[in-house]
Amino acid sequence: MEVLAIESSCDETAAAVVRDGREILSNIIASQIETHKLYGGVVPEIASRKHIEVINQVISEALSEADRTLGDIDAVCVTYGPGLVGALLVGVGAAKALAYAADKPLVGVHHIEGHIAANYLADPELEPPFLCMVASGGHSHLVIVKDYGEYEVLGRTRDDAAGEAFDKVARAIGLGYPGGPKIAALAKEGDPLAIEFPRASIEDSPYDFSFSGVKSAVLNYLNSCEMKGEEINRADVAASFQDAVTGVLTDHTMLAAKDYGIRKVALAGGVACNSCLRGKIKAACEDSGYEFFLPPPILCTDNAAMIGSAGYYEYRKGVRHGWDLNAVPALALG
Ligand code: KG4
Ligand code: ZN
Repeated sequence: MEVLAIESSCDETAAAVVRDGREILSNIIASQIETHKLYGGVVPEIASRKHIEVINQVISEALSEADRTLGDIDAVCVTYGPGLVGALLVGVGAAKALAYAADKPLVGVHHIEGHIAANYLADPELEPPFLCMVASGGHSHLVIVKDYGEYEVLGRTRDDAAGEAFDKVARAIGLGYPGGPKIAALAKEGDPLAIEFPRASIEDSPYDFSFSGVKSAVLNYLNSCEMKGEEINRADVAASFQDAVTGVLTDHTMLAAKDYGIRKVALAGGVACNSCLRGKIKAACEDSGYEFFLPPPILCTDNAAMIGSAGYYEYRKGVRHGWDLNAVPALALG
């Protein structure tokens, strides 16, 4: 079965053709980063307008690169939440129009399910159950994937998402948007043990996250250095901040794997591009004898191939959406 998948929940306009949930026939991504960089972050109205400008071309390219026409496709899958409402609506509108015109089934997909499914594309042998740590710009979820499309959310962030913390700290130290890759690059020149930033854990909720404390600690550190006239070593700040965030993500993931007796651990979401995080979880899994799964960076950040994989498994479960499918900005998982 081959699906056309569309993703437009944030600042990437993407379309892909995916076979049987596991094989990428095409994966086209038009990034808006250069536009949003000018404003230091994603501007929702601009994101929607940019999606409208390029979506038809992105979809055409996805079909032609896969050497398929709309008539060859078995279903149209689209992210319908969570995300920016105006941005989501562009993808949902395009998917409904195409599915209606070509008389194909329409399958709405949860964006986080997509991030998790990136692991099915990266490793065709991976089967549930497994534990997945999803860390992106908007979400930090620790999820047990019990079966295809069946999830138990063990932990989530109480405030900022991990990627959001990276982006905010990057802005504070003058690195600009998007912050994650810039902090990761600068951190390579710094000492992760130079500054002790807090590693929050929440009483009675050992798998939940909180990243606003570490973000505020960085801002306070910068202010205090400025007031004392002390020079700031930005590389040390980046390395110490990255060490604190990736340390918490790793510790909570390994604790959950141990507590629930799950011996397969996967990573997903934009923050999973972070080589420090990848290294820490990989090493911890090796120490514990767990299998470790990790999509390549292009499948960690937003893309439509992951939506095609998740959509395929939803379709197989019998999920079909009507022409009244709407964007749901705060769509819950599971
Ligand atoms: O999954 P994604 O593309 O979009 C959302 O669904 O949010 O994730 C984007 C987030 C941004 O916050 C970005 O700064 C972060 O992922 N990110 C990274 C790295 N690459 C991207 N964070 C840390 N280290 C990286 N190398
Ligand atoms: Zn995402």
